[in-house]
Amino acid sequence: MDSTTSFQTSWRQRVDDAGAAAEACRGVGEVANYIPALRDVAPDRFGIAVANLDGQIVSYGDANDRFSVQSLSKVFVLVQGYRTWGDEIWRRVGQFPSSNPFNSIVELELEHGIPRNPFLNSGALAIADSLVSRHVSMESSIVTLLRELSGSAEVDYNQTVAESEFRCADRNIAAAYLMKGHGNFANPVADVVRSYCAVCAIEASCTELARASLFLANRGICPGTGKRIVPRRTAQQVCALMLTTGTYEHSGRTAFAIGLPTKSGVGGGIIAVIPNQGTICAWSPRLDSTGNSVRAMAALENLSAAACLSIF
Ligand code: DON
Repeated sequence: MDSTTSFQTSWRQRVDDAGAAAEACRGVGEVANYIPALRDVAPDRFGIAVANLDGQIVSYGDANDRFSVQSLSKVFVLVQGYRTWGDEIWRRVGQFPSSNPFNSIVELELEHGIPRNPFLNSGALAIADSLVSRHVSMESSIVTLLRELSGSAEVDYNQTVAESEFRCADRNIAAAYLMKGHGNFANPVADVVRSYCAVCAIEASCTELARASLFLANRGICPGTGKRIVPRRTAQQVCALMLTTGTYEHSGRTAFAIGLPTKSGVGGGIIAVIPNQGTICAWSPRLDSTGNSVRAMAALENLSAAACLSIF
């Protein structure tokens, strides 16, 4: 049996079972409604894709439909921040979990304008600011990176969603000004928040995002191209931050239930990394109170238990 056949054979049933198990959560949770353009998404869509290091995919449901990646983009923003600034990026943002929501600015004021981690909105904004300083278009640099990693030239951001988010970005603008007041923000706030909103409005499918994340499971090397994206140690550090902070105040529970580095977005996507094996991306738009997809989380929990995926 060749490796393609054995991958397909061993994962087909597990992925179907995870999709079926997550059906129990259909209708649970609410679609993100604080970004007007996201309100209209069909709330009960669901997809999941598992990719291995050969780039083979096993998928279920709406896995090839593109959705708004939102905070999933923060993984790629962090990676681009590291590629641009190296370890200097850690002067702008910390490596600590937070028990506050992703858009909170409470700790930011108490901690001298240094966001606790790169996956909070404030953390991603600080890195976005660092990228605006070095790239003609920081959103194009992230789109280009995602196209390269996913092997899909059609990945792009949705201008309508980006503009809709910018018009109601008061909390992100507040966070940026707070950082500016503490000397942790170089560029005009509106320019950076606009670029940040564009990156959050990137649309990609579960299949594309599972492929795009494979370098994190492969010690920093994109398996599709053989290109090193980040040093091995950086890939490990990004995964460590995903495990401890990637699903915000839910991260402890995610580590308990799934046991993998994960990152969520309010578009309903969740990426999980299975070190040295592959990646999973699950998507369904209804969210729990912490901004994580209820059904995607249930599917990942089922898959992790069935296939014994926890890193612990
Ligand atoms: O800035 C925001 O609020 C959104 N563009 C992204 C938030 C997000 O996806 C949080 N994830 N669960």
